[in-house]
Amino acid sequence: MAVPNQPPPLRVLMVAAEFDPFAKTGGLADVMASLPRALTRRGLDVRVAIPRYGSVDLTAVTRRPGIARFDLPFNGRDERVRLDAVELDGFEVLLIDNEHYVSARPGIYGYPDDGHRFTFFARAALETARVLDWRPDVIHCHDWHTGLIPNWLRTTHSHATEFADTASVFTIHNLEYQGHFDASVLETAGLAPDGLIPHPTRADLSDVFVFMARGILFADKINTVSPRYAGEILTPAFGHDLDPLLRDRESDLHGILNGIDTDAYNPATDPHVTNHFSRATLDRRAPNKTALQQTLGLPVRPDVPLLGMVTRLAEHKGLDLLLASLPHILDRGAQLVVLGLGEPRYEEALREMAHAHPDQVAAAIRFDNPLASRIYAGSDIFLMPSRHEPCGLGQLIAMRYGSVPVVRATGGLADTVDDVDPANDTGVGFVFNRYDPIDFFGAVARALELYRFPETWRQIVRRGMTRDSSWDVSAAAYQRLYTNALTTRRTQPSPTLAALS
Ligand code: GLC
Repeated sequence: MAVPNQPPPLRVLMVAAEFDPFAKTGGLADVMASLPRALTRRGLDVRVAIPRYGSVDLTAVTRRPGIARFDLPFNGRDERVRLDAVELDGFEVLLIDNEHYVSARPGIYGYPDDGHRFTFFARAALETARVLDWRPDVIHCHDWHTGLIPNWLRTTHSHATEFADTASVFTIHNLEYQGHFDASVLETAGLAPDGLIPHPTRADLSDVFVFMARGILFADKINTVSPRYAGEILTPAFGHDLDPLLRDRESDLHGILNGIDTDAYNPATDPHVTNHFSRATLDRRAPNKTALQQTLGLPVRPDVPLLGMVTRLAEHKGLDLLLASLPHILDRGAQLVVLGLGEPRYEEALREMAHAHPDQVAAAIRFDNPLASRIYAGSDIFLMPSRHEPCGLGQLIAMRYGSVPVVRATGGLADTVDDVDPANDTGVGFVFNRYDPIDFFGAVARALELYRFPETWRQIVRRGMTRDSSWDVSAAAYQRLYTNALTTRRTQPSPTLAALS
């Protein structure tokens, strides 16, 4: 029954290239699965549009197949779009399929025509609002793959009745990945009349179409995933050549810290954790370390500190710092397990270290969610020496699972991990500032030192496990951001284009 005088719930269409568990390479997928849930709990009406890549496995979920089919004129052809819907915890995931651009490709990224693929996906996502007759108040776009939606809403689609009042929010999960493609995308995207936008800093990129820049320029509100990173990206050191655009839009730029799904990431219920435990039953944590050492073929030594890392093997994750200081860490007698995939040079270096030190180093060069949970639950210390880190979810999960993080003071790592001060019984991890192997080693050495004092260590672990990393506070901040985006949409007809001319 309709409640009188109750405004209808805010309708939000989220659009992204990843969604856990259907398509995942990193933290974006986790956020896409957990933020809508938190917003739904606040009473918002949320739908999420993602591509149905060939590798998406829907066998474990109930779906409504083929809720709509339509033709989208694209790149000189009529492309058939098919929509499947999956209902999850009160919100709906729309899986967008087209044989040519989507389901014929098992992978998420890395095809030569990715510029066209994601233009197609973003166009089809926009079209779903029309086809399903469900008009979103806000389209919340995530990362470069969706950067054209704010552009269309402010230009080609600004007068379409369906979208006349639709605001856009653009979230930057990682500014480093921007989607650079040749200018043919302009034509495909129907944006040729306005031409390319001059690159703010790089003359050599004057012919390049940058998806991320479009999102930044045209969205009603922009945000990124921690307050610290929102400040960092305004500077040339973190701006990846787009900092002038971000500075122009500083008054519309926000930093909202990511949360994690505390129901899914719970060491008392996580099905992959060997021996369940909580803050109140911390004694039950120890068997997880034993099991992890056994699984990895490391000597089972409860007294030896076990360091863990679950990461994409990319330069900015601090792999150089790890490799440079590893001999010194091993000299101290610690064990290390690294789980991840990525750049071949790091994969090889880690395999070599594991080969040279079979009693101390284990390298699992793969993507393996169950093992990730076991590392969070079984390691003593969790390493995140990132050069930059927009938010970082690993440190949040590690703390919740009782592994103490060692992090560099950057982005969300700085916002979520306070340095341990044993004299005052404060802090949840070990923080270093300079991106330098000596400084990183200094933080690890401090951690190893305190690990020798079991009662002090337990207090650190407990404080970390007590930290609230749920979405509650941040979902409320997103709701405010959506409302503010609607105001911008209504009161500033086209601020960006005016600023550009
Ligand atoms: C990207 C960022 C990471 C962030 C995640 C989710 O993967 O690199 O720091 O936590 O997106 O927003």
